[in-house]
Amino acid sequence: MKIKTTITRIVNGEEIIRGTKLSKLVEKNSFVEVIYLLLKEKLPSKKEAQMLNALLVAAIDHGAGTASALAGRIVASAKSSLHTAVAAGILAMGERHGSAIEGAAEFFQKNIQEKSIRDLVKKLKEQKVRIPGYGHAILEKDLRAIQLLKVAKKLGFYKKHSELAEKVGQELNLISSKKLPLNIDGAMGAILSDMGFPPQIMKGFFILARVPGLVAQVYEQIKNDTGLLRMEEENIIYE
Ligand SMILES: CC(C)(COP(=O)(O)OP(=O)(O)OC[C@H]1O[C@@H](n2cnc3c(N)ncnc32)[C@H](O)[C@@H]1OP(=O)(O)O)[C@@H](O)C(=O)NCCC(=O)NCCS
Repeated sequence: MKIKTTITRIVNGEEIIRGTKLSKLVEKNSFVEVIYLLLKEKLPSKKEAQMLNALLVAAIDHGAGTASALAGRIVASAKSSLHTAVAAGILAMGERHGSAIEGAAEFFQKNIQEKSIRDLVKKLKEQKVRIPGYGHAILEKDLRAIQLLKVAKKLGFYKKHSELAEKVGQELNLISSKKLPLNIDGAMGAILSDMGFPPQIMKGFFILARVPGLVAQVYEQIKNDTGLLRMEEENIIYE
C-alpha cells in the first residue's frame, strides 16, 4: 500500500505538520490556526484566524431539534456509545441540513461571472430548483448568517462571493412564496469561497463546527439517561 501525503510526517518520534513541529504549534498556535494550517496548507493571518473562528462558532450548535442532534440523541438513548451517537449525528447531515454549504459554494463559484442574477434566479424558480444556502425550516431570518457577513465585512472577507450571496437572496425573495433567508450554510459557503476554499472541502467545515455541539447534545442525553426515545404510538399514522 502507498499513500502520498503532504500533511504530517513523524521524524525521530516528533510530528511535523505541514512543515512545522507539533511541539511549536502546541506552544504558539490556537486550535483554529492549526485547522487552517491543515486545510489551507499555511498558517493564517490574524484576520483569517478570526474569520475562521467566527465561522466555526456560528455553526457550533442549533438546538436539540435539528436532524443531526435528534439522530445523535436517539442513538444515544438506545445505549450506544458516545462516538457511535456522534457519528449518527454527522450521518444525519444532508442537503437540507449541514451539507447545503457545499452546494451553496458551488453555486456561488459557478455563477460568479453571471451578468443577470435576476434572470438566473427566475430561471431556476421556473425549473423548481432550490438554491442551496437559502431558506430555513423555522427561521424567517438567519441571524447567524447576518452576523457572519458583518464580521466578514469588518475583517475584509466580504468579497465577490458574499456580495453575490446577498444579491441572490434579494432576487429570490422578490419571487418566492415564503421568506427564504440566506442561511448559515449559504453564508459559510460564500465567505469560505471568498477566503479561497474550494467547494469540496466545505462540508468539512460544517462538521468541524458542529461536532462540539453534537458531543454536548449526545453527552446530555447519556448523562440524563431518560430512557429510550421512541415515537409515540398516537403520532404514528397507520394507513
Ligand atoms: C431548508 C429548507 C429545507 C426549508 O424548507 P421549508 O421551509 O420546509 O420550505 P418548503 O419546502 O415548504 O418550501 C416553500 C417554498 O419555498 C421554495 N424554496 C424553499 N427553499 C428554497 C430555496 N433554497 N431556493 C428556492 N426556492 C426555495 C420551495 O420551492 C417552495 O416554493 P413553492 O411554494 O412555490 O412550491 C429549504 O428552504 C431548502 O431546501 N433550502 C435549501 C437547502 C439549505 O440551504 N439547507 C440548509 C438549511 S440551514
